[in-house]
Amino acid sequence: MSLLINMPNRSSTKLVAALSQFISPEEIEVWPDVRSPEKVTMALLWQHQHGSLLAYKNLQAISSFGAGVDFIVSDRQLPHLPIARIVDPMLATQMKQYVFGVIQHHRLRLEEYRIKQSTQLWQPKGPHKGNTIAILGLGQIGTEVGRFLHSAGFNVIGWSHSEKNIKDITSFTGEVGLKKVVSQADYLVCLLPLTPSTQGILNKSLFSLMPSYGVLINVARGAHLNETDLLKALNNDEIKAAYLDVFQQEPLTNDHPFWQHEKITITPHVSAITSLETAVAQIVENYKRCQSGEEILHSINRDKGY
Ligand code: GLV
Repeated sequence: MSLLINMPNRSSTKLVAALSQFISPEEIEVWPDVRSPEKVTMALLWQHQHGSLLAYKNLQAISSFGAGVDFIVSDRQLPHLPIARIVDPMLATQMKQYVFGVIQHHRLRLEEYRIKQSTQLWQPKGPHKGNTIAILGLGQIGTEVGRFLHSAGFNVIGWSHSEKNIKDITSFTGEVGLKKVVSQADYLVCLLPLTPSTQGILNKSLFSLMPSYGVLINVARGAHLNETDLLKALNNDEIKAAYLDVFQQEPLTNDHPFWQHEKITITPHVSAITSLETAVAQIVENYKRCQSGEEILHSINRDKGY
């Protein structure tokens, strides 16, 4: 039995070292140099090549190396096996701090004052108007972010696939609900899982409903956003600004127009980073469960795609 690590764009050195404290190094295989494909029982993935899992005839389970599994379930040649994700309780904490931070960065005009500081310009202004934060996606992370923002004094509304009943967050579902939520969004925060129905959801029809001083914050997946529509909406002053942590292609290519855009603030997919310790504990536990034929922890609903 062995654990395969397949993460083409990420270094796995630290991960292998951490896993080796619990799993014998002979049982750890790192793609592309897989010694014995027939021994692989569990695959740990981050943006693997679609179709590549067909090489492992004795695979029993698959795990994402993060919270998201979108890049796994979109593999059309994926063997029909249980899929786990990492559930890191600190992710929600990091996410609420990040989202609160970028909202405050905009609301308090910190960028504007930073520029004025360079010419010793003392020019006080009130915070940007707008107190309503609309959260798309009210799963565990979206709910925690919403509650936190409510406790910080914001009016929080939300939208999700299934109906929710969350204290302090007025929530909606369906297409009509989406329009209602977005048209009130001074800040529109995307925390949705990426599925075929949410892909490209951040597009011109939503931007046209937002107030012209509205701000988009995408901390979910790059594929939620229609990048061309965003550029048009910003250039036509349909919305005010965008804070983006995720992109269709990561790293963002050097010639991407987002880099130079004065209304876009970019962070390199850092809003919530899975802790190595937490991930390793869950991977080891699931690997052991595979060995003893037990059900794996934190498995996703494959039909829902998350
Ligand atoms: C990060 O985006 C993750 O899915 O863990």
